[in-house]
Amino acid sequence: MKEQDFIPAHCDAVIEKGKVTYRSPSNIALVKYWGKKEHQIPANPSVSFTLDSCATTTSISYARLDSKGDDYSFELLFEGKPKEDFKPKIKIFLSRIEKYLPFIKQYHFIIETSNSFPHSSGIASSASGMSALALCVMHIEKQLRPEMTTTFFNQKASFLARLGSGSACRSVEGSLVQWGKHDTKGSSDLFGIKYPYKVHSIFQNYHDTILLVDKGQKQVSSTVGHDLMHNHPFAEQRFAQAHQNLTELKSVFERGDLEVFIKIVESEALTLHAMMMTSMPYFILMKPNTLEIINKIWAFREQSKTHLCFTLDAGANVHVLYPESEKVEVHEFIQNELVRYCENGQYISDRTGSGAKRI
Ligand code: DP6
Repeated sequence: MKEQDFIPAHCDAVIEKGKVTYRSPSNIALVKYWGKKEHQIPANPSVSFTLDSCATTTSISYARLDSKGDDYSFELLFEGKPKEDFKPKIKIFLSRIEKYLPFIKQYHFIIETSNSFPHSSGIASSASGMSALALCVMHIEKQLRPEMTTTFFNQKASFLARLGSGSACRSVEGSLVQWGKHDTKGSSDLFGIKYPYKVHSIFQNYHDTILLVDKGQKQVSSTVGHDLMHNHPFAEQRFAQAHQNLTELKSVFERGDLEVFIKIVESEALTLHAMMMTSMPYFILMKPNTLEIINKIWAFREQSKTHLCFTLDAGANVHVLYPESEKVEVHEFIQNELVRYCENGQYISDRTGSGAKRI
């Protein structure tokens, strides 16, 4: 698929009004996307687990205008209340997707959105939020072009979500999604694909307990962080490493090799933060408690012979990943030894999920 394939040749049908709702989950990258070209074209391929509980639910009520407006016509409600400060982001998103959805100035939209996780949890809502929004607008296009296949629908929803936020393109389907051109069959820089090879049953229902170490606003946004990969002294090696890790994961996923899985996932997390610490300007998003938790995880893994591991996003929170078969032991460890490092003892129990759903 090429970018042009997402520009509709026609949108003949006329729909006066309607309403659609999607619930779209967040995702956690195993191989990280960090560095991009224009329009969220990734500098390297990435792969993520789609989550289940952490999600955004978005409804769009749409009503056809008498004539096509000069500007986008929409209202925005966040958790039931008008939210003016979210509007510029939505406007930018609409301007990026208009080329692919030429009907959007023909409608007035009421967008209502809410998150399953607390707003001030330090969990980014851009992946779940942008994918939910992309799915809702795709539903409208589907009304206008009913012949569209499900494969195309999902690909284009992911393509549009990417234009809002890169990692959002990995939130449409589940439970393992790859995004970015690589040897992997069917992979593309334009949208995420369901991982096309065999995945061992150990990765089914994989757990992700998100330890909320710091619920504050990030000092450096992901967008700024991605930019700092331009002219970064280690950029080329890092991008090559992501390719290599993705190649190695193929047999890890197939055989259920948790030893190698842990090495790759933890190395990816630390490399992401190493890139931040070695960019110019440099910055640190981990907090002292992030490191306390990492050390505790290493000690517990050694002593218990379980297979939990950690990963990090662009923030201080720690995602603890472990198989379903070890959940009892790991829960007990988290309760007894890790919760004390969380802000107000807060954490979120999540697991892999099957992707966005229309509700
Ligand atoms: C560290 O998708 O938030 O979570 O494309 O600028 O919106 P933009 O960035 P974003 O970057 C996510 C970076 C990451 C790693 C990952 O999810 O792969």
